[in-house]
Amino acid sequence: MVDRLVYDLLSPEALRNPHPIYAELRKEAPVYRVIDPEMKVPVWLITRYDDSVDFLKDSRFSKDLGKQMPPGNDGGMMNDAAAAINKHMLMADPPDHTRLRALVSKAFTPRVIENLRPRIQQIADDLIAQMQARGSADLIADYALPLPITVIAELLGIPLADQERFRYWSQTIVLGGLRGENPDAVATAALEFIMYFHEMFDRRRAAPQDDLLTGLVTAKEAGDQLDPQELLSMVFLLLVAGHETTVNLIGNGTLALLEHPDQMAKLKADPALMKPALEEMLRYNGPVGLSTMRWALEDLTLHGQPIRKGDQVAAVLLAANRDPQEFPDPDAFDITRTPNRHIAFGAGIHYCLGAPLARLEGAIAIDTLLRRLPGLHLTVPASQIEWTESLLLHGMKALPIAF
Ligand code: HEM
Repeated sequence: MVDRLVYDLLSPEALRNPHPIYAELRKEAPVYRVIDPEMKVPVWLITRYDDSVDFLKDSRFSKDLGKQMPPGNDGGMMNDAAAAINKHMLMADPPDHTRLRALVSKAFTPRVIENLRPRIQQIADDLIAQMQARGSADLIADYALPLPITVIAELLGIPLADQERFRYWSQTIVLGGLRGENPDAVATAALEFIMYFHEMFDRRRAAPQDDLLTGLVTAKEAGDQLDPQELLSMVFLLLVAGHETTVNLIGNGTLALLEHPDQMAKLKADPALMKPALEEMLRYNGPVGLSTMRWALEDLTLHGQPIRKGDQVAAVLLAANRDPQEFPDPDAFDITRTPNRHIAFGAGIHYCLGAPLARLEGAIAIDTLLRRLPGLHLTVPASQIEWTESLLLHGMKALPIAF
């Protein structure tokens, strides 16, 4: 029974609403081994809230693929080009993780991020003006996606004209790589990405600017702290993590409001509710379905379930965030919910570095949308919206709207 449920997770209905399946797993099989329908490898899925938090903080699990495989062999999970951009903090354990994270953490503190507010507001206003000129839009392609891409590209110091290419590279490498689809396209995209950034690094070394790319290149040269592969991987992680997720916060958050007109009206009447409302959007239908994989460093037991050394494990963030043990009436969308200790940004040492930026972008994007487009509505029934075929990222392919 449970097996059938898991294999249904990539069905169109479950992609749109995986919660009934996760509720069943939470109840019947809270640590459950499946063959990952995307990556075709066995993985244990954790679905309860407490178990997920404990797991994400548990140092008996590793994120370093190198510790699991003999050197040069990743078990066929990555081609060479993709492997070259995977030496980043989200694939590292301490002390490497600590060093890599420290190098960029100064650029992402709430105070530094708050300085970006006027620019993010301007980007949101410009995108709204373009949508207004057309009268209808796809909220994903025309708003939710360009906003975070523009912000992270500007933060790094990447020219506007190259942004289309980033979107292509990042989507091809992330989604294509995950699903094992068309390895040639994934390898080509990774190679193009690598070549482009080698050139950008050279340019910044020759002519430093006031941007993050220069900061990363200089950090390497001053303290010999980032090797070339780490440099490239860091940029890749920031680009991917910086927009494949925030786009889903804006998209899923807007959809939740459109499907709950009472909550939308409450928020419009009192914009100060945006803070708790955004947290509820992150909890109710978060942008990231699963944590990334961890590997058990030793034989151990999780919720009574023996796990063998080397086994892969992931926490289902969407399931944990609807656990009735932690959230009363978990399927209700309540923008005033308190407390709301969701784990949409993960937990433990890999807790999302970009959370302050994501929260600011999400709040500005949704506030601007509600203020400037008061007649906002869907132009297709919600049941007809297509969702991305991924368990890792939880978001819509398109969200047709008019106003
Ligand atoms: C709503 C948007 C976002 C969500 C829901 C989100 C979610 C997450 C989650 C769940 C993790 C932990 C994954 C794991 O432990 O397996 C993570 C890590 C990370 N995120 Fe985000 N993220 C978002 C936006 C961003 C942004 C805007 C940036 C940066 C520009 C960013 C940068 C990172 C980085 C660098 C890590 C790795 C941290 C580490 O390994 O120490 N994220 N994110």
